[in-house]
Amino acid sequence: MSLVTTKEMFKKSIDEKFAIGAFNINNMEFVQAIMDAAAEEKSPVILQTSSSAIKYARIPYLKKMVEAGLEEHDIPVVLHLDHGPDFETCKLCVDSGYTSVMFDGSKYDFETNVKLTKEVVDYAHAHGVVVEAELGKLAGIEDDVNVAANDAMYTDPNQAKEFVDRTGCDSLAIAIGTSHGAYKFKGEARLRFDILEKVKALMPDVPIVLHGASTVIPEYVETCNKYGASLAGAKGVPDEMLHEASLRGVSKINVDTDLRLAMTAGIRETFVNSPEVFDPRKYLGLGRENIKETVKHKMRDVFGSSNKA
Ligand code: G3H
Ligand code: 13P
Ligand code: ZN
Repeated sequence: MSLVTTKEMFKKSIDEKFAIGAFNINNMEFVQAIMDAAAEEKSPVILQTSSSAIKYARIPYLKKMVEAGLEEHDIPVVLHLDHGPDFETCKLCVDSGYTSVMFDGSKYDFETNVKLTKEVVDYAHAHGVVVEAELGKLAGIEDDVNVAANDAMYTDPNQAKEFVDRTGCDSLAIAIGTSHGAYKFKGEARLRFDILEKVKALMPDVPIVLHGASTVIPEYVETCNKYGASLAGAKGVPDEMLHEASLRGVSKINVDTDLRLAMTAGIRETFVNSPEVFDPRKYLGLGRENIKETVKHKMRDVFGSSNKA
């Protein structure tokens, strides 16, 4: 099977009330773990690369590794640009064979975000590629700037409808209380499901995306800390809330931090328990196994995407 766009899988997710995992990739072990997990779970899957992942691994490698996975597995796979910062990066990915791009104009004012998003939509659609856009700001620690949760700008549902109508974007990332990274909540985890509900009432057929949706899996945080890491106070979105989001109209759930933790736990554990090991296949191998189990668990027990391929 070749790469697909998100069109059909998002339609199915809305009709059948489940979410599709979008997992960030940076190297071969991540690609293999995620695609092997999706194949075993018979789940559709989105593999996404940020612009810093592109800088690190480079587009031809990222794309060909995903295509290699498609030689082994017959499942619907999307290659997506995560948080495209500008038109040029989105165009580069469209021209390179990505099937989906995100333009993240959330840092701009509303009118500028509409204008820049529409430019990307026009170009991408002319090339058969779908576009995710973002409205509202995620709380938390981004780009080394600590934005207090109080300053977070939740998405305004009415503005969201106007934004989608005017830009023609294919899916919309909304801000309902999540944030990127390993430190999402100081106290209790809380998501604004009331905002999600209003958005879905206004736009039932528009696929909604949740960024910053890692659980920050406590077992992996513990393992990392046990073997020398310093991740005190790390906290994410509990599985139950993500499951609820999947039932209430979120079609795409973004996960990066959990996979980083899974890989790091495997590496740290190997280094401490087996100090004689210096074969990267040993410590990366355990990291890859951890990522695969993590992705399978999310698909099967949280997002509900198993057997939806
Ligand atoms: O949303 C951001 C993703 O976690 C990607 O992070 O830019 O460090 O690759 P990155
Ligand atoms: P996490 O940091 O919660 O994994 O979020 C990842 C994300 O939103 C990628 O776009
Ligand atoms: Zn994100």
